[in-house]
Amino acid sequence: MRSLISVMDLRKEEVEEILSLGSEAKQVQGEKLSGEAILLFLEPSTRTRLSFEKACKRLGLEVYSVIGESSSIVKGESLYDTFKTIEALGFRCVIFRFPFVFFPYRQIVDKVRIAFINAGDGTHQHPTQGLIDLFTLKEKLGDIKNLRVLYVGDILHSRVFRSGAPLLKMFGAKVSVCGPKSLIPEDINVFEVEQVFFDLDKALDWADTVIWLRLQKERQEERFIYERSYFRRFGLTAQRYNKLKGFFMHPGPVNREVDIEGDLVYSEKSLVQEQVKNGIYIRTAVLKWCLES
Ligand code: CP
Repeated sequence: MRSLISVMDLRKEEVEEILSLGSEAKQVQGEKLSGEAILLFLEPSTRTRLSFEKACKRLGLEVYSVIGESSSIVKGESLYDTFKTIEALGFRCVIFRFPFVFFPYRQIVDKVRIAFINAGDGTHQHPTQGLIDLFTLKEKLGDIKNLRVLYVGDILHSRVFRSGAPLLKMFGAKVSVCGPKSLIPEDINVFEVEQVFFDLDKALDWADTVIWLRLQKERQEERFIYERSYFRRFGLTAQRYNKLKGFFMHPGPVNREVDIEGDLVYSEKSLVQEQVKNGIYIRTAVLKWCLES
């Protein structure tokens, strides 16, 4: 049994194994697993929760859910005790989403005999979204060596960037970021990005593929973002759409007229729906990878 909390714990061979299981899941139904999985979602989600639920059902796992404020964590129960309870109830796997960062996690994960799958924790990691984005790009383009991928927007709060960028770089892509100065992390150099752009039009001249990120309004704290001006400077407008050399992606949910002009969300150069569909196959792959080992 294995867990997936962070892409930083994955070796390239393991990522290749998950991608290959994802391709297999896309082609055939595959063998069933047995047992029960629990979705512990303390933060809202549509596509991650539903695609994990569908993936569990495809694999024959019985699925239970604890959503929002309905867990005893709100009564002060520790995460460790919550996971020990889930273990005692006989679940094989917990798929969790937290509004806070789950770090350090080793001392909990090593003491509970279930598989842990991170479906997004605060601003830390969203490993299955990173894997979906890598899978979707490789599926469309094949080899991504030297592909110039630009992340645009709220880099500071993005667990999608923190998961996707290391995976893309692992397969040879070149990664740059673009956003307002206040939304670029101070430690951006840790991610070994090629360039930090503050001018989106210059950044688009550099990029082959662009991943727009959601402006995370719920995490801005005292930072004030004037959305109309943000959209003018960093949004995907019709004029910028015409300049795009290749595809664009967005992990969703999209802030229409803030991240992307509404009419462009499902346009010809958009991979948004592919990302959502591939969510089922990559999450099926991750469940198999964790539970069959
Ligand atoms: N991309 C993503 O995590 O979307 P949801 O919040 O809808 O799950």
